[in-house]
Amino acid sequence: MIQTIRGTRDILPEEIALWHRIEAVASEGFRRYGFREIRTPIIEKTELFSRGVGESSDIVNKEMYTFTDRAREDRAGESITLRPECTASVVRSYIQHRMYADHSPGELTKLYYIGPMFRRERPQAGRYRQFFQVGAEVLGDSDDPAIEAEVIEMLDWFLGELKITDTTLLINSVGDATTRGDYLVGLREAIEPDLESYCEDCHHRYATNALRVFDCKNEACRALISRLPTITESLDEASREHFAQFRAHLDARGIGYTVRPEMVRGLDYYTRTAFEIVANSGLGAQNTIVGGGRYDGLSETLGGPPTKGFGFAFGLDRLVMALPESEAASRRAAAAPEIFIVSLGDEARAHAALVARELRRAGIAVLLDFSERKMKKALALADKLHARHALIIGENETASRRYGLKNLAEGTQESLAIDEIIAKFA
Ligand code: HAM
Repeated sequence: MIQTIRGTRDILPEEIALWHRIEAVASEGFRRYGFREIRTPIIEKTELFSRGVGESSDIVNKEMYTFTDRAREDRAGESITLRPECTASVVRSYIQHRMYADHSPGELTKLYYIGPMFRRERPQAGRYRQFFQVGAEVLGDSDDPAIEAEVIEMLDWFLGELKITDTTLLINSVGDATTRGDYLVGLREAIEPDLESYCEDCHHRYATNALRVFDCKNEACRALISRLPTITESLDEASREHFAQFRAHLDARGIGYTVRPEMVRGLDYYTRTAFEIVANSGLGAQNTIVGGGRYDGLSETLGGPPTKGFGFAFGLDRLVMALPESEAASRRAAAAPEIFIVSLGDEARAHAALVARELRRAGIAVLLDFSERKMKKALALADKLHARHALIIGENETASRRYGLKNLAEGTQESLAIDEIIAKFA
């Protein structure tokens, strides 16, 4: 038997109703806040991520699905990667299509995306090798911290709408990449005396970008890391002011948060504001549902014009897990057929097909039974399929054009003409 590969899974129909719900609420939030959808390819040049996400990140270092495409034999081949995230792709697209070209001063390009991402991480509950993100990016020439607060306000609305309320917003500032130098020197000095006690990955981080040691999940390293100076303590003046304004904008909106100085986020492009939203219960170790931040300069890194950027992505797989059971149950029920037609006898069965077509054209979700079943068995099947009503069509009903509509939850039944049924479900 051939099965799904490690870290990937089928999202089965029973769960899809929850995915649709989340996607629908997200799309509505994006509409209200002026984001438009973009769909970029799942495969990109490897260089996009090695430059964008950064050589020193775990993602680029260990987790990318990369292959050489030798489709054209006259070429040496091209290194291609399954996207591990989408911010770099969106910024690439922004540059490639010169979306900035007709911008008025202060005008923003607001884009969102939904789709699968790929990282070769160790699979566990809530962590997959193919997972789905919904994300949004705000690009332009403005780095106003009010933009950041507005995006978080949208997320706040979104989570509230999904009844995911037991969450914490964690925020930090990772400062300006150009003024980070002094801090990094100090950080390396602080790590050095204990370097031998750090894990192998941290040795690599120490050598390439010491800030990345904060990404380490190794228990022994974490104890050492908790004693290191944080970047937040040595922010440059402008970043400090930016962070204060960002917090004031959150305060003005009544959005609560916790400052997490050791949270630097695992991607190299972040500058200044970084944030995560964690679920306080129900998700175990993989409880970060949203991650995001500012990435001024990513466009320049990718060969584009000077651009400010801010955005986030949330993990759909994790949000589905975080939905409260009551919400999940009502969404599953909403996906069930509204009417299951039980027809008795050949003539009735032929007529039932026409009735079904008319009901469906009126917008009602209808299932037809194609097998010959006795009434009792047919009703049992309707129940099993979670249909809310059965419509009974026998010889008499076919002749009179009035059908028996049975409410399966309540056990009540009434005799109705097709127009009356349609009016009932309108
Ligand atoms: P990230 O923190 O790497 O950020 O991922 C964002 C979210 O994707 C995580 O909080 C988590 O919910 C979900 N996620 C990540 N990896 C996995 C996995 N292996 N399995 C399941 N879910 C996962 C980014 O990707 C940035 N591009 C976010 C961003 C957009 N920053 C600025 N703009």
